[in-house]
Amino acid sequence: MRGEDSRLTSQACLRNQGPILRALRPLFSGPVRVLEIASGTGQHGAYFAAHLPQLCWQPTDVTRSSFESIEAWRAPVADRVAPPILLDVTWPTWPACAVDAIFCANMIHISPFETTRGLLRGAQARLPSGGLLILYGPFTRGGAHTASSNLAFDQSLRARDPRWGVRDLDAVVDLAGQRTLELEQVIEMPANNLTVVFKKV
Ligand SMILES: C[S@@+](CC[C@H](N)C(=O)[O-])C[C@H]1O[C@@H](n2cnc3c(N)ncnc32)[C@H](O)[C@@H]1O
Repeated sequence: MRGEDSRLTSQACLRNQGPILRALRPLFSGPVRVLEIASGTGQHGAYFAAHLPQLCWQPTDVTRSSFESIEAWRAPVADRVAPPILLDVTWPTWPACAVDAIFCANMIHISPFETTRGLLRGAQARLPSGGLLILYGPFTRGGAHTASSNLAFDQSLRARDPRWGVRDLDAVVDLAGQRTLELEQVIEMPANNLTVVFKKV
């Protein structure tokens, strides 16, 4: 949905931004430079930066057509949210930028599994020791769906593209471990989503 200006509005973002902010607040107690992967509309960064003035937020997306919306959302907090940059997580090398944490919502299930691998590879390369990788979205646990709504969502994703689908938390944790990203915290979120926090060793 496009408003009167260039801002695109995701209803899911409007629902989840408050709960995600509550999960992020204790993680981001001091000044923190966050690289956001797959910013989409740009709502999340603008919302979090408006509520957490210590944030310095870098939006990115693989889709340049999303930049207009990201620019429009960041306008009121342009001192804390940088202009978006193009970043495909599957690139072998990501654009240089100093980060303390990486945030990625709702990408790894709406893309081929190669993006999960790319995200973890990039996070290993970009994060300093002690830096956080924070994922938000639905996951299966031990290979099983945690709710029938997630199963239906997974089936709809796979019908759109067989390479897409809800990822298993254990598989992601295992791959992350191979990338020196240790599981720090799993936070249960509304609507059967999770916030998953990894810390770079
Ligand atoms: C469902 S949207 C999520 C957007 C936003 N994070 C949110 O929670 O509303 C998925 C996003 O993943 C991005 N994406 C897909 N493949 C990607 C890739 N290889 N690298 C970076 N972003 C990618 C898409 O362009 C899209 O913006």
